[in-house]
Amino acid sequence: MKSKITVNKKFSIGDIDRRIYGSFIEHLGRAVYEGIYEPTHPTADDMGFRTDVIELVKKLSIPIIRYPGGNFVSGYNWEDGTGDKSKRPRRMDLAWGSIETNQVGIDEFQEWAKRVGSEVMMAVNLGTRGMDEARNCVEYCNSTTDTDYANKRRANGFEAPFGIKVWCLGNEMDGPWQLGHKTADEYGHLAAESAKVMKRVDNTIKLVACGGTGYSRAGEWEYKMLDYTYPYVEYVSMHSYFKNPDNNPAAYMSKLDEVDDYINGVVATCDAVKLKKKSNKVIHISYDEWNVWEHSIENDRARRDADRWTSARHQLEDVYTFEDALMIGGMLMILQNHCDRVKMACLAQLVNVIAPIMTEKGGKAWTQTIYHPFFYASNYGNGKTLRPCIESETYDVENGRTGVSYLVSSVIYNEEAGEVIVFALNRALDEDMELTVDLDGFTGCKLTEHIELYNDDLKAVNDRDTQRVAPANVKIGKKIRLKKHSWNMLRYKVD
Ligand code: AHR
Repeated sequence: MKSKITVNKKFSIGDIDRRIYGSFIEHLGRAVYEGIYEPTHPTADDMGFRTDVIELVKKLSIPIIRYPGGNFVSGYNWEDGTGDKSKRPRRMDLAWGSIETNQVGIDEFQEWAKRVGSEVMMAVNLGTRGMDEARNCVEYCNSTTDTDYANKRRANGFEAPFGIKVWCLGNEMDGPWQLGHKTADEYGHLAAESAKVMKRVDNTIKLVACGGTGYSRAGEWEYKMLDYTYPYVEYVSMHSYFKNPDNNPAAYMSKLDEVDDYINGVVATCDAVKLKKKSNKVIHISYDEWNVWEHSIENDRARRDADRWTSARHQLEDVYTFEDALMIGGMLMILQNHCDRVKMACLAQLVNVIAPIMTEKGGKAWTQTIYHPFFYASNYGNGKTLRPCIESETYDVENGRTGVSYLVSSVIYNEEAGEVIVFALNRALDEDMELTVDLDGFTGCKLTEHIELYNDDLKAVNDRDTQRVAPANVKIGKKIRLKKHSWNMLRYKVD
């Protein structure tokens, strides 16, 4: 099969905001305890953080990490995670049925974020709590005033403010599973009032309002809640989790096209409110939870009561397959292609919980299949996304989408590096693709590297000892061949 990508140097979608390569750490399962924090681990640093994990995280060049939840945040008292560790309360975490020991809180997490080279995206509890706790938290983290909460931070050993710039106004507040979930009107009102007081404490912060959770819940919710929050927020959140329940890889990968519809729909809704309000302000998207979440669901359901009210439970420990890595690689291209409106995104999550990095207690840390496309997107997908014109054969999904292009691609011009990077996913399950890349308007183009992620077995996984799914260098020849069901990165040197 043949396919072609044409771009023109002058036709760009926009500049990529590096924060689309963000991630997420929630107090859930073994993400924090036994994940990033394990004081008895042989690699633990002076604060009890695992340095083997820090090294793997650093390689991903993650600019921003959302914290502390997720569903967890909707029942969380942020104050519990501050000050003298020996005095911190043990609490029931009603979101995930575990015990939160509070040995890690914002005091520690902001330091861990520095150690991995990221900034923190902080979420406040608008489920069981509200605007008062939210503004106190902003004061504690960011204020330089001689006032109670800023002084509490100083007393806890942090003279300098944490300087957290991005704040989420709750989490998935539209969902009945959320503690304190609300109607769009209730949430819109509370989020707007919370935003007001938070910004009075620190008028440099940027705020994310909760969008409807997922494609099926989006639309009306955003329209209603933005009616309240539009003047006070900069971003609306989007969340997506992918599955392949029918073991139909073609249908699974076609869900990437649904993401396109989802982003376009939420953007259109934001702009509809903009029109209604005759506002000049443009609301952007924070796609602050996305990933595959499937493999652990049955097991977690079966064990739900077995280890309830313990700490560091094995929850959401998806073992990712090669086909999941293809989805993650494809999703990153979609985000890059929407860089004009998607300014932040968080791969949910980062360690042990639906994560690219896994650890064992007292032992190894290793990378899952999905680590690899994320690594390349984050480290090489920087600059301007060019508008790709894609010529490719298409397929139809039974009882699903029709006209699904076999080729998914994004093309990024990094002027500083003198490079054009082409990411390309071949969704054909049984046919290789011969790809032509036409870089119109560029001179001196030379293909210098072709990285491929391929395994004949779509269900291949990585584990603590073996990286069955790992990137490989493809020898550069006269023609570019994208193997059947493969993810690829092509690097061109340009003048
Ligand atoms: O990432 C796991 C969970 O998925 C988060 O806690 C929640 O926000 C979402 O439903």
